Amino acid sequence: MISTPEEQQIGDDYLLNLFLTPEGVADPAPWYKKLRENMPIFESSNGAIFLSRFDDCHGVFRDNRFGKGDQSGPGGSMLPREESPEVVAFREEVNAARVRTAPSLLFLDPPDHTRLRGLVNRAFTPRRIDSMRMSIRELTEECLDELAREGGGDAMEILGFLPVNVIGELVGVPRSDWNYFRPLVNDGVANLEASPTLEELQASHAAFTEMGEYFRELLHERKQNPQNDLISALIEVEESGDRISEDEVVSTVILLFAAGMETTQNLIGNGLAALFKNPDEYHLLWDNPDLVPSAVEEMLRWDSPVQLDGRTALETTEISGIKIEQGRSVVTLIGAANRDPEKFTNPDSFLVRRDEGPPLSFASGIHYCLGANLARAEGQEMFAGLIRRFSSVQQAGELEQRGRMTLRGFKTVPVSVTER
Ligand code: HEM
Repeated sequence: MISTPEEQQIGDDYLLNLFLTPEGVADPAPWYKKLRENMPIFESSNGAIFLSRFDDCHGVFRDNRFGKGDQSGPGGSMLPREESPEVVAFREEVNAARVRTAPSLLFLDPPDHTRLRGLVNRAFTPRRIDSMRMSIRELTEECLDELAREGGGDAMEILGFLPVNVIGELVGVPRSDWNYFRPLVNDGVANLEASPTLEELQASHAAFTEMGEYFRELLHERKQNPQNDLISALIEVEESGDRISEDEVVSTVILLFAAGMETTQNLIGNGLAALFKNPDEYHLLWDNPDLVPSAVEEMLRWDSPVQLDGRTALETTEISGIKIEQGRSVVTLIGAANRDPEKFTNPDSFLVRRDEGPPLSFASGIHYCLGANLARAEGQEMFAGLIRRFSSVQQAGELEQRGRMTLRGFKTVPVSVTER
């Protein structure tokens, strides 16, 4: 046993406070700190193991003795409390259906992961991403034009279009359909959360089913009329006889939307919120736009759009000398690792000049975020654009959290802007 019953009681309480109370969702850092300082490798009463130190999380990401197993997602049902039988049954049904069709690479272990990621990499080339830089700049300008016209507005609504539009453009979704994806992806990703309700799981499943139907149609259309887009490039891989099936092309494209939309929106929203909370850093950045790359890295670290991830021990192994039995679920608390003082000096300070290596926000190892460079480019273009266009961007009302923890971000970020 890793944690004693007394430790379990205390640690379970930290976790429930962290995930399920408004205070925990508003600011998880104090709970992460308690876990990291008192029980950095914590076994909750339902048997999941929670890691909160940078080195432990990093080590697990890079160790192939930990994998996805048959997990339903980073959140899964890992909280130390009973889930309703309906939620458990629905989750199992959806999991079984996914295994029958084509799980996305996010949920695969080698050798399937290696095969699929290798094939997707052939279509998701650095050249394609580089060539997106100009489109990102243009699409950013369109968002900024709207903000300028209104003198401000909800940044999540107006600037949050950027990631949808960028992935739409990359994949090859017609412009007229870009808006259609926002609510679908939003509903879809609820299944990654630590404690979704039955209604959220059902809405998530319905959203993924609808996206599947949309992309199957688009795929057939592109088979007739190939374009210079990612879906056509994936079809080319499929038709060249490599082992990627039509279902896998569809699940890959859905994954790009699911993994790249809300996360990058949250990078923009969490980044703005961090600047509002730290006015000195905001002024430093506005006076020194060359700090944008390090500022975006710090936004990713300080309030990571992905707060937790998960693995299963595929064989009996150990973490920092502690034995982990095969089959155990391990939750890597990325948000806690990014505030580990062993890795980052004064970790609770938001410092746009910080230069202490990348945070764990894009994970590491074989599942390292495929879109990391794209997300960084979007964040950099957005903040560089804001500084270029506006002499000031100010908070203009209460910020409202989405209330989710795996993908952490705001529902609304009201801002007012002054043009240069
Ligand atoms: C700030 C924005 C983003 C953050 C914080 C983020 C974070 C992550 C993390 C933590 C993982 C690892 C998941 C795991 O280990 O289970 C991941 C995987 C992934 N991400 Fe991102 N992501 C972002 C943006 C994007 C974008 C823009 C795309 C693509 C358009 C993307 C595509 C993917 C894909 C395809 C995977 C799965 C890779 C694999 O399993 O091999 N992400 N992301």
